[in-house]
Amino acid sequence: MDSRRKILLDCDPGIDDAIALCLAAAHTEAFCFLGITTVAGNQTIEKVTDNALRLSEFLKLDVPVAQGARTPVIREPLTASGIHGKNGLGDVPFPRAEAEPAGENAVLFMRNKIMELPAQEKVTLIATGPLTNVGLLLKACPEVRERIQEIVIMGGACTGGNVTANAEFNIYEDPEGAAMVFLSGLPIVMCGLDVTAKCGLNREAMAFLLERDGKVSEKVGKMLQFYLDSPGYRDKETASIHDAVPFMYLLHPELFQGEKMYVQVDCSQGISRGATVCDRRSSAHGQEPPVMVLLKGDSDKFREYLLEAVFSLDEKLSE
Ligand code: BDR
Ligand code: CA
Repeated sequence: MDSRRKILLDCDPGIDDAIALCLAAAHTEAFCFLGITTVAGNQTIEKVTDNALRLSEFLKLDVPVAQGARTPVIREPLTASGIHGKNGLGDVPFPRAEAEPAGENAVLFMRNKIMELPAQEKVTLIATGPLTNVGLLLKACPEVRERIQEIVIMGGACTGGNVTANAEFNIYEDPEGAAMVFLSGLPIVMCGLDVTAKCGLNREAMAFLLERDGKVSEKVGKMLQFYLDSPGYRDKETASIHDAVPFMYLLHPELFQGEKMYVQVDCSQGISRGATVCDRRSSAHGQEPPVMVLLKGDSDKFREYLLEAVFSLDEKLSE
């Protein structure tokens, strides 16, 4: 039996979603991809789907890609082109993909991939975009619940936010979708800003990547350069690679520390809309809280292992 973790990735590529895929593609001994689904977030649904198809082929993952929600459950979509560029990948070109998106919508695609697994196997859902597709999946197809090992999310924060004072982008983009996931009671690992903001690649790493003359290093170096030249990072040494944290956590849990908590999403129209309210009172709900909230990570090791993964892909893809 194939003992690798069965992965469905729901994403909105996105520079850091793309770098997360590089990390995953370097570790095919650990991850078995069942598919990639897309959700509107960093860019429009057409652009992020096109990017996912291009990345899947460029990284020789060659997995099916299914397009998902065009808009959040309730609110109007926002994009983040200031941070991720007009094409969503820092305006770095990737070769056009030959494959087309799968015929099914992301929700149905995920449901079918999960239910087609042999009875004893479970899937790990990784979400690095707004939680629209995952929330709808859990609501519309409750039969998948017992086939889900865990849901590892990049999103939220115990403290603070990046798009508003209290809200992180992925959760702010679709608070109602996120609430459906956090209220599901399923085992969740929340990789929020508390940890992801400190996990990144610095200017020295960018120089290594750009001078290396590798197929993947060049693309990652250029996307990182776009981040580091953007107004948010211009005066900073390091750009956070938020979306690589879920995969790094699964590969190297020893690098991270967290606590189990209850997490609720603020779905009000107030100033904290989209905030993840993390309740650290272990006794407040009468049972073990379902969300492991990561709070700390080893930034040096994160950078080292991420660079190693990119360099190893250069070798692997040149064979
Ligand atoms: C998250 O928002 C997006 O811009 C990134 O891709 C990441 O998923 C960070 O807040
Ligand atoms: Ca993302």
